[in-house]
Amino acid sequence: MTIAITGGTVVTAIDAVLADVLIDGEIVIGVVHPDSELSRSFAGNADQVIDATGMYVVPGGIDAHTHLQATGQIAPVLDTFETGTIASAFGGTTTIIDFAYLTDEERLPDGFERHLATAAGECAVDYGFHMMVSRVDGQSPIEMDLLVNEGVSSFKMFMAYPGRLYSDDGQILRMMQQAAKNGSLIQMHAENGIAIDVIRGQAVDRGDVDPVFHGITRSPILEAEAVHRAVALSEVAGSPLYIVHLSSANALEEVIAARDRGLNVFAETCPQYLFLDLDDLDRPDFQGAKFVCSPPLRPKEHQEHLWRGLRTNDLQVVATDHCPFCWDQRQIGRDDFRNIPNGLPTLEHRMELMYQGAVAEDRVSLNRWVEMCSTAPAKMFGLYPKKGTIAPGSDADLVVFNPNSPHNLSAETHHMNVDYSCYEGMEMTGQVSKVFLRGKLVIDGVDYLGRKGDGTYIKRDVSSNLL
Ligand code: URP
Ligand code: ZN
Ligand code: ZN
Repeated sequence: MTIAITGGTVVTAIDAVLADVLIDGEIVIGVVHPDSELSRSFAGNADQVIDATGMYVVPGGIDAHTHLQATGQIAPVLDTFETGTIASAFGGTTTIIDFAYLTDEERLPDGFERHLATAAGECAVDYGFHMMVSRVDGQSPIEMDLLVNEGVSSFKMFMAYPGRLYSDDGQILRMMQQAAKNGSLIQMHAENGIAIDVIRGQAVDRGDVDPVFHGITRSPILEAEAVHRAVALSEVAGSPLYIVHLSSANALEEVIAARDRGLNVFAETCPQYLFLDLDDLDRPDFQGAKFVCSPPLRPKEHQEHLWRGLRTNDLQVVATDHCPFCWDQRQIGRDDFRNIPNGLPTLEHRMELMYQGAVAEDRVSLNRWVEMCSTAPAKMFGLYPKKGTIAPGSDADLVVFNPNSPHNLSAETHHMNVDYSCYEGMEMTGQVSKVFLRGKLVIDGVDYLGRKGDGTYIKRDVSSNLL
């Protein structure tokens, strides 16, 4: 099957040029001048010609932080690999990197094998895995090496959630030392969970049980403290460090300080920290429970700092931390915010939200939009240049994006398996129009043309560490 996408503006992290994209099978074989003889003859014989006049043609999005079909929390995550990845395709994200996790008795390879088997044949977009690490012992670093060989080259550790996922500084250091040897990347949930749990207990004892106290009790100072400590541990271990879901100006200052010292310290933020804030957690009638995630939504003034960090490359990646729970599941925490399951649904909207906040609202460039949503996660997580760009030889994961197609986000129209939208009514200027997954047209306007199983598992390389 050959396809020519003609007349569009091809946007990568570097360029924005009028060019035609030529696809043979699953691969891009040319990005050529629209008036060239090469383009005319290819398009003349192609099986399919897509007119992208007036559109941007961008590399498929890569969401490097999702939790699909996970059971680790007080309630099961609602999006399955099937529903979550179809929603992902609708949103122009053609690759996800999901978090494999451990159940009570499992060792690291068991958790990975189970999650891999659960996903097999179910995904509508390509997928890889990070591994969530807890219960570190002498065997864990050896297991880590085994997983790197299976294409799992990043490991999430938790300074939060004592008694559940938490690792102490010694356990973290041991894994960082191993990462320094095997080239993998330690991803850190940086919040001082021990201190936070004391403050949460005190709040509940006072009768402060509403969702907003989830935000108030998780101070950004304790996020910054954990980032600082994680940086120190990684510096001693000689390993790179990637902070996941960074939410506050305080934490960002620590990342900036580390990068200014030349350390390989990286960070992602998420759309929820750029578009939602502590006031959402304070919505009346328990509605704030829909906005519970950790780290929590912050007071609005943090947002401009995060946008600046994205502009200056102090933040490299935007991922969603997609982890949806429905309204009924949120009720578990009616009388105590500590029992509300943590996580928000955003996977489907990342590309459009980030286009809106970055490009349409003039904060960050068009190229940088592509970079933080696709190219940087591809480089960070060993997928580049197969993914994350449009170049001869790269996978034909492509989004035809209409920059002038106003619409509103809503639970009525989204495809994520959750009965509300945290972004209900929000107005978007640009819209995903068509999506190709390795040369197959899977989204055409409102129509899904793919099927579960289109997505394949990607054995990832190690990080390029050069961002
Ligand atoms: O609230 C969140 N972020 N839930 C998902 C688990 C995690 O810590 O990433
Ligand atoms: Zn986390
Ligand atoms: Zn997460």
